[in-house]
Amino acid sequence: MPRNKMCPICYVKRLFSKKVKIVDVMNEPNYDNGLTKPVMGWSSWNCFANNIDEKQLYDVAEAIVKTGLADAGYRYVNIDDCWQANVRDENGKWISDYQRFPKGIDSLIARINALGLKVGMYSSNGSLTCEDLPASLGREREDALTVAEWGAEFFKYDFCHHETYSPYAPLIAMISIAKLGSDEIIELSPDAAHLEGYAKIRPNDNLPKGVYVSGLDKNGGSLTFENVSVEEEGEYSMVLTYYKYGGKYSKYIMYSINGGVAEGIVCPPCKKFFFTARVQAKIRLKKGNNVLKFFNPVTSQADGAMLQYRLMGRALKEAAEKVAKDKGQEVKPIAYSICEWGWNRPYLWGASAGNQWRTTPDIKPFWPWIVLIYKHNLKLYKYAVKGGYNDPDMLEVGNGKLTEAENRSHFSLWCMMNVPLVLGNDVRKMIVDGKVVENDPILKIVSNRELIAIDQDELSKPCKKVKGGAVDVLAKPLKDGVAICFFNKSSFNKKASFDLKKLVGDEYVALKDFPEYKLKDLWTGEEKTASKLTVKLGKHASAVYKIVY
Ligand code: GLA
Repeated sequence: MPRNKMCPICYVKRLFSKKVKIVDVMNEPNYDNGLTKPVMGWSSWNCFANNIDEKQLYDVAEAIVKTGLADAGYRYVNIDDCWQANVRDENGKWISDYQRFPKGIDSLIARINALGLKVGMYSSNGSLTCEDLPASLGREREDALTVAEWGAEFFKYDFCHHETYSPYAPLIAMISIAKLGSDEIIELSPDAAHLEGYAKIRPNDNLPKGVYVSGLDKNGGSLTFENVSVEEEGEYSMVLTYYKYGGKYSKYIMYSINGGVAEGIVCPPCKKFFFTARVQAKIRLKKGNNVLKFFNPVTSQADGAMLQYRLMGRALKEAAEKVAKDKGQEVKPIAYSICEWGWNRPYLWGASAGNQWRTTPDIKPFWPWIVLIYKHNLKLYKYAVKGGYNDPDMLEVGNGKLTEAENRSHFSLWCMMNVPLVLGNDVRKMIVDGKVVENDPILKIVSNRELIAIDQDELSKPCKKVKGGAVDVLAKPLKDGVAICFFNKSSFNKKASFDLKKLVGDEYVALKDFPEYKLKDLWTGEEKTASKLTVKLGKHASAVYKIVY
């Protein structure tokens, strides 16, 4: 049967029958690891790409401290792709690139931590990273533990070499349970289970119990064993035997024990030498009766991606907690960055999976592309939550041929959108002969503390567009006021006005009703009182004001 097709009769039957939804995958609480502000830091990708090594990254970390960027809030030094060797060790654990990180990522993290900074690591939720190095699909728990053990506090999870979970479920023929290490097996036959939706028992004499269950595909059916009784609480093995019919492609099944968080099993594609195949998992059962429910909630590629990202998010939290417990120290939360380039509408599920989600393909230091990214990300303002942010990608401020006005606008827009501020330029260049370059224009832009405060505001609310045209007017609610940004998208000088009173009735911005407002221009420092703002802006330039109550 082709991968994304059902048997024609089942398809027609489903068309005419009542819609069944076994679980509501979208309905999950927000990811909570205690982090409540967009990450601020630096990443190796935009300026160094695949050319990184331990000396260079340590020098960058030192420069972040020396330039005052650390004091301004940039605390994460994020190591992007290409830190790892293409082989794993004999236990399957990642190895740092032998020659570029000879002392190992863990030792580099310890040294950077000693400077008062945190470090980020990178992998992909595919079989390999974007630079074809070992990635984490199917190894989520082991790799998350390595990230936590090595002391990383940020983790970017990319999407290259992605393989989605199948919306098709294996045809379960038997579930067997045994205490770990014991050969006393409890065999559960599908015909003794409770079926929901399209799940259906079908006879087949070649199978151990003479039956299998079909119809668990695409969130359309479930199989529940309501009385799995064991004498002791503890770890058990669970073997799922399935009928190989139509097994040319991989299948996916999730199980939930006693209503707990569901875990998934990928059943690989099979050859047809025998009728059945087995997949196995270690589970925990309580003493007495247990309820085991099997289903496949995947209805689309987006569901599969979401489940994979959520799995890694859980693994990171568990790993951070385990490492803290083992070392007798406080939990170091790992900021979790979902990087699937906006392909599966991550804004719809990102808040339940991690701390930030990329909304677009990779940024480049090319002005028209930065503006496109801004336009797309801006529209998604409603999906951000405290601790969960749209991510229009790392900053290109200081890279390529961006003009001063473009660099400022890029930074202003990212702050207004309440997104992660991750520098992508070579900050070592801000130091010459051991001294910080005086009046370095890029350093001045990214160190603008009042702009940074807009990004890091306690409300964590992104701006929304309140007026369009050649000049966009953006308004961002703040804990103690409102930020207003004028952004000239055009290549000509423009004059624009905005009557602030228009924001009084706006539920999202919620500007308080005063006859006039105290305003501060966050680029020039100039202060004034007004109820209407008029600005003159050069090509691609912007102005940001803060209204303070
Ligand atoms: C993808 C990501 C980038 C970067 C590279 C690394 O393209 O979107 O941000 O991490 O992979 O290979």
